[in-house]
Amino acid sequence: MTIWLPELAEQRPIYKAIVSAMSRDIAEGRLGPGERLPPQRELAYQLGVTVGTVTRAYTEAERQGLVVGEVGRGTFVKQSRRDAPFDTVRRRSSDPEAVPSESFIDLSSNWPPEPPMAEEIGATIREVTSEGNLGKRLQYRFDLIGGRDQRQAIAGHLRAEGLDTRWQELVLTNGAQHAIFMALLATTRPDDIVLCEELTFFAVKSAARSLSLRLRGVAMDEWGLQPDALDAACRATQAKALYCIPTLQNPTNRIMPIERRREIAEICRRHEVMIVEDGIYSFLLDEPPCPFAQLAPEHSIYISSLSKSVAPSLRVGYMRAPERLLDALTLAMRSTTHCANSFAHDIGQRLIESGIAARSAKAMREEARYRQEVARRYFPDAERPVGGTPLHLWLELPSPWRSGSFVHAAYRAGVGVADAEVFAIGREEVPHAVRICLAAAPTREGLQSALGRLAALVPLGPEVGPGLPLM
Ligand SMILES: Cc1ncc(COP(=O)(O)O)c(C=O)c1O
Repeated sequence: MTIWLPELAEQRPIYKAIVSAMSRDIAEGRLGPGERLPPQRELAYQLGVTVGTVTRAYTEAERQGLVVGEVGRGTFVKQSRRDAPFDTVRRRSSDPEAVPSESFIDLSSNWPPEPPMAEEIGATIREVTSEGNLGKRLQYRFDLIGGRDQRQAIAGHLRAEGLDTRWQELVLTNGAQHAIFMALLATTRPDDIVLCEELTFFAVKSAARSLSLRLRGVAMDEWGLQPDALDAACRATQAKALYCIPTLQNPTNRIMPIERRREIAEICRRHEVMIVEDGIYSFLLDEPPCPFAQLAPEHSIYISSLSKSVAPSLRVGYMRAPERLLDALTLAMRSTTHCANSFAHDIGQRLIESGIAARSAKAMREEARYRQEVARRYFPDAERPVGGTPLHLWLELPSPWRSGSFVHAAYRAGVGVADAEVFAIGREEVPHAVRICLAAAPTREGLQSALGRLAALVPLGPEVGPGLPLM
């Protein structure tokens, strides 16, 4: 609960001075949307005024639309319309003016922690820019899919993710999302069907939409994609590709065991379906399981990046593909961004060769472990994958919560979380669950505060009363 103690101006009557202070503190971000005001009796005691004065102030503030009172729960700072809950995912990208208040903690997006090796990354950038051949580095390049040195460095890096590959099979990209787009562009045609897990990384939906592809979700169990369901979907749809995240699946955090991978690879081989495997979270396992690219190299494309393990703004992404696809992928590169960002990949190469990338991945793993431990204190019963430490928590909500009402309530409590709906394909049933991105809290203290607020909500159940239609 907020210990809000306003500084009152010399205004009379006092209740108006309290409302003015509240309005000022909301405008200046000291009181954020969803924050709970102190109980009236408590504030009256702190300010040395009567409870009646505070009641009058709260009533007036509610009349002015600053706060909302909820029977049995207290008085909360109101959201502006622009801050409606469903905006949490979009806010950062599409509405630069909708800056959340300082106390709002957005755990809805899978941001990695701030780069633990920021100093070293900075020094590497300075090193690259201080070399004599800078002018040449800043030119266009002929090798659109990446230089030989850069690709060799990535081949070395991929060995640590459990993938043994030749540099000639690699295509460098501007992030993993770019690689996903290119892989779909190179292996499908408009109107094709692409299969994916029934809950999936939502940016794939954007890519499919831009490419006029039809996504079809395939049922999952605790080990990820179900082979029978995949086989049936391949038969029924003549799908051209399968996008999947077998290691620390986003959002469910499932890890597909090797036997299941073999089955899935065999089904895709039989139906000539190209597996587009997203391995971006593999570095979070001490021993990443064998990727599809190793089990069915001719039928799979492996995608990853340094975004989560080093720093997302570098936009260093890469994919390993069968060599017969390289022409199509080069065309996809040319039509999306002309060439891979060579400057960024020069930096990526140095970070890998100097060992900074590996040290950064280790530090990220440790931070992920720490944050999961904190989360365990608040949500001891939440499902956790064995063998890997994800950056987020997939929280199945107890009855009678539905995911949407929880997202809404969390937002009012000043925490952004992602609704299971966001990850769903089509109109199938969606679990009553939310994704809580532990790594997205800028500080460890912020994480504790946010998780405390969320954990306090769970036993309360969805709100009834203010905010709902009258009939
Ligand atoms: C499964 C998955 N793939 C790809 C990406 C995007 O990675 P990048 O920033 O390298 O484009 C994300 C980001 O959250 C992700 O969760």
